[in-house]
Amino acid sequence: MRDTQQGLDKVIVEFDRALRTLVGTTRSGGVMPGDDMPEADLPETERRHAAALMRVNHTGEICAQALYSGQALTARNQTTQQVLERAASEEAEHLAWTASRVERLGGRLSVLNPAFYAGAFVIGAVSGALGDRWSLGFLAETERQVEAHLDGHLESLPASDQKSRSVIEKMKEDEVRHAASATAHGATELPGPFKKIMKLAARAMTFTTYRI
Ligand SMILES: [Fe+2]
Ligand SMILES: [Fe+2]
Repeated sequence: MRDTQQGLDKVIVEFDRALRTLVGTTRSGGVMPGDDMPEADLPETERRHAAALMRVNHTGEICAQALYSGQALTARNQTTQQVLERAASEEAEHLAWTASRVERLGGRLSVLNPAFYAGAFVIGAVSGALGDRWSLGFLAETERQVEAHLDGHLESLPASDQKSRSVIEKMKEDEVRHAASATAHGATELPGPFKKIMKLAARAMTFTTYRI
């Protein structure tokens, strides 16, 4: 009975997180990177491009929230849950920063966010259920792929959009730390074909959310 109650409590907590993530009431508690820099006066095409890139990153962070949430629901080990919780709170900051950049650049958030949240949540829950070493392995690989993806965005973002660049640079720093922490807590290296599937899924996400 107590187990059922605890399980139910967890589901309610995660459901609450899903709603707050999607409705956008997650607010940054700290100082946003690039806060002290002026907003660049970008030509229209560059402004739209930067907004689209930041929309992609925002959806990426929506997925991060969902993955962590799914994993936290099924992770068994307390230490793993703590690693996940700590990373998730930084991802919540990323979510708020990217949403703010999209808004300031005059863009819209992706209409596909609820669908990506649902998909990532299921993937997270499954990876959590496979056991902590796999779950952490999945986390480490995700963060490594995100790091490479953010490098691509640093090349693609307009040079004068220092505000967006500062956000991406700080996010990258955090993602590298998340990967290292997962590895330090016993992450298993994922099989090559699985990594490839993850890359394809990420590519589908970036392709669609750059547009809608
Ligand atoms: Fe992140
Ligand atoms: Fe991360």
